[in-house]
Amino acid sequence: MAERKADEIFKEFKEHSIAEFFKKNRQMLGYSGKVRSLVTIVHEYVTNSLDACEEAGILPSIKVSIKAEESEEKYRIIIEDNGPGIPKAYVGKALATILAGTKFNRYVQQRGQQGIGAAGCTLYAQITTGKPIHVASWTGTGDGFECDISIDTVKNRPVTNNVMDFKSQGRGLRIEGVFGDLKYENSEHGALEYLKRTALSNPHAEIIFVGPDNTESIFPRSTDIMPTRPAPTKPHPLGLSVNDLLEFAHLSKNTSISEFLLETFSRVSQNKVNEIRDAANDVDFKKQPKEMSWIDAEKIIKALKDIKWISPESTNIRPIGEEQIRKAMQNIFMPEFMHVIERKPRIFRGGIPFVVESAVSYGGGSGKKTDEGYSGTIMRFANRVPLLFDSGTCAISYAIKGMDWKRYNLDIEKDPVSIFVNVSSPHIPYSGVGKESIAQEDDIIDEIKLAVMEASRGVQRYVSGKMNLEHEANRYEIIMRYAKQLSRDLSSLTGKDQERIEGEIESLVESKFPKLKKKPEENSTQLEGLEK
Ligand SMILES: Nc1ncnc2c1ncn2[C@@H]1O[C@H](COP(=O)(O)OP(=O)(O)OP(=O)(O)O)[C@@H](O)[C@H]1O
Ligand SMILES: [Mg+2]
Repeated sequence: MAERKADEIFKEFKEHSIAEFFKKNRQMLGYSGKVRSLVTIVHEYVTNSLDACEEAGILPSIKVSIKAEESEEKYRIIIEDNGPGIPKAYVGKALATILAGTKFNRYVQQRGQQGIGAAGCTLYAQITTGKPIHVASWTGTGDGFECDISIDTVKNRPVTNNVMDFKSQGRGLRIEGVFGDLKYENSEHGALEYLKRTALSNPHAEIIFVGPDNTESIFPRSTDIMPTRPAPTKPHPLGLSVNDLLEFAHLSKNTSISEFLLETFSRVSQNKVNEIRDAANDVDFKKQPKEMSWIDAEKIIKALKDIKWISPESTNIRPIGEEQIRKAMQNIFMPEFMHVIERKPRIFRGGIPFVVESAVSYGGGSGKKTDEGYSGTIMRFANRVPLLFDSGTCAISYAIKGMDWKRYNLDIEKDPVSIFVNVSSPHIPYSGVGKESIAQEDDIIDEIKLAVMEASRGVQRYVSGKMNLEHEANRYEIIMRYAKQLSRDLSSLTGKDQERIEGEIESLVESKFPKLKKKPEENSTQLEGLEK
């Protein structure tokens, strides 16, 4: 074979836009498998609606409708919210430009981050049906507009057509699209389950779902209290990798590395900068951060690890809250019993704050009905977003499965239990771009275990109490069955009144079973933890 020269080979050298890249690698955006692809679309739009409403201080009302189209595996998906809407000038960029959005570089807990989700949906509609998405937006100013939007994938730019203005006093966004290569399933991995869990972790949202069979499911809001907005904070130096530090440095407009460290990260004082400079002594702290090299960054990161730091602030985290979880669980499962735990903020990788919340519920609608009886369910959440896929690699499943459940009198394979875990952090370490599982960081696993163990202990007390009570009730019943016969025999032996003997035996037996004498509403074990 004749050799080819570099000049000739490099004539084929091309640059791709990010949209072209995702067109060929859609699985990286969560579009792998028909069932999962459908949930990905619902997830991207619903998380955007929740983020937008919260940002605007509006209690979210979101309606999701899924209708089967005539051709197989195609569905029309419509999402409507009562959020702030998107101004006309930004709608194309927001919904049809990959890596464009309002949420970059905010070191704060929020669902969306990269500016990929909504444009990814537009791209998916385009590559599976050849159709644009249709958007209507009302921004509360009296003016509304609607239009068709698609992506010019070569340039990663929006293409907007059929723009129509209309008058409306309303407010919100409505997106309608036809998407292909999908399958609707009413299962643990389906859209309905996704929305049910979204309602559970967002008690302030009202969510309505209309499925392909036209049945409507309504998840009313369990509270009118809007979650307070977490305050953005600067990243803590100990949470940084070499690559992170370089990215921050190269974006910085500061005039020296010293000034950059002082202004960009939390807990960095002039004294700390001096300590870092002494520890990384051959790095020139006077040069511009733009000029920081990989070697410089490695030395600074090493120096950061050798210095004592105050823990990071956690004001940028907003867990759901014990009371809100309790209300939502009660609303959705109406369990016999539940125990809810909110742990204190902790840190992982030395500098990234996170909070774990857990609830374990028993009975009522908890767990899953099976042919043999019941099985337990694990409900995983990251920053209030349900994680339905990739449980095998997730820190939450790993922590729960690794617990010795016999110690808690619970069998998670067979009992009607639901285990809820929400991890909140400004930086959730997802184990993949699909954002469906949390990486198995030791600090996070330990904290999840502690939260679930604590919640399970509460349920254990209830289950043991319930089992004891049932056992006592059986014994009481057996003894009472003989009381009548015994009183008759004693009466004929002693010649005394049978009714009196029977009464005395009954009070004697009852005194031996004090727990059973309590009326149900006085039995605090059964009511403890339920909404009163
Ligand atoms: N329902 C909505 N109401 C108002 N603005 C929205 C809505 N949906 C999307 N946006 C705007 O469009 C932008 C792009 O959304 P997109 O989902 O692509 O990215 P993101 O949510 O910022 O990040 P991620 O890729 O992690 O989802 C958002 O940052 C937001 O500004
Ligand atoms: Mg998004």
